[in-house]
Amino acid sequence: MRESIGIFYGISVGTGDPELITIKGLKLLQKVSVIAFPAGINHQPGLAEQIISPWLSSQQKKLPLIFPYVQDEARLQQAWKQAAIDVWGYLQQGVDVAFACEGDVSFYSTFTYLAQTLLATYPQVVIKTVPGVCSPMAVASVLGIPLTLRSQRLAILPALYRVAELEEVLTWADVVVLLKVSSVYNEVWTILQKLNLLDKAWIVERATQAEEKIYRDLGDRPHLTLSYFSLLIIQVTPS
Ligand SMILES: C[S@@+](CC[C@H](N)C(=O)[O-])C[C@H]1O[C@@H](n2cnc3c(N)ncnc32)[C@H](O)[C@@H]1O
Repeated sequence: MRESIGIFYGISVGTGDPELITIKGLKLLQKVSVIAFPAGINHQPGLAEQIISPWLSSQQKKLPLIFPYVQDEARLQQAWKQAAIDVWGYLQQGVDVAFACEGDVSFYSTFTYLAQTLLATYPQVVIKTVPGVCSPMAVASVLGIPLTLRSQRLAILPALYRVAELEEVLTWADVVVLLKVSSVYNEVWTILQKLNLLDKAWIVERATQAEEKIYRDLGDRPHLTLSYFSLLIIQVTPS
């Protein structure tokens, strides 16, 4: 057992293809003895866990952490607190813990809430992160388009709680990326139709994964049932 506390690593593991993890991330993932990740739902492995499974050994301790998919702030805080307690249990014994994060660790990631809770509760904690491939970059690559060029203005909307927000952003942005589009797709389609932008929009579902699907022409698709892992790109101004 080491005398010092362990390091908490946030490792970006990319968007699905296990080869999209960086060499630095992979080396750490294979070196650290405790590997944490968001627990899947309905007893199925979560996405981060699926991505890293080819790289792990059976000797490594797997630490699934429960983060409920809810808006209720009190329930979320409780989950982050419990996860922080679980992780600290190893760190305080001098054992490093690596948290595998789908996409990039700093891009709308659960890792950040956990890291902030750890810092607030145990200020002596040491946290290091490894960057990686986030979903807008992966989707641009899948579509074979540049995400942005020259002086184009890029807007990333993490989630749409008021669809009017999208109309406002479309007045100034050249390229718009909409995360979590699955729950608001019908409303978004109506706005794009009104603004004549349906032929400038693409959806990629489960980019870089075996189930990857591209929707290029949204004109005749007012209704789509999409996975949570779907992203919409609108090229408002041609590049
Ligand atoms: C909470 S955010 C997490 C973003 C992630 N940390 C990243 O770096 O991309 C979840 C949203 O990211 C997008 N997303 C993540 N992975 C994706 C993938 N493989 N294909 C398409 N969209 C994805 C979806 O819009 C999803 O609703």
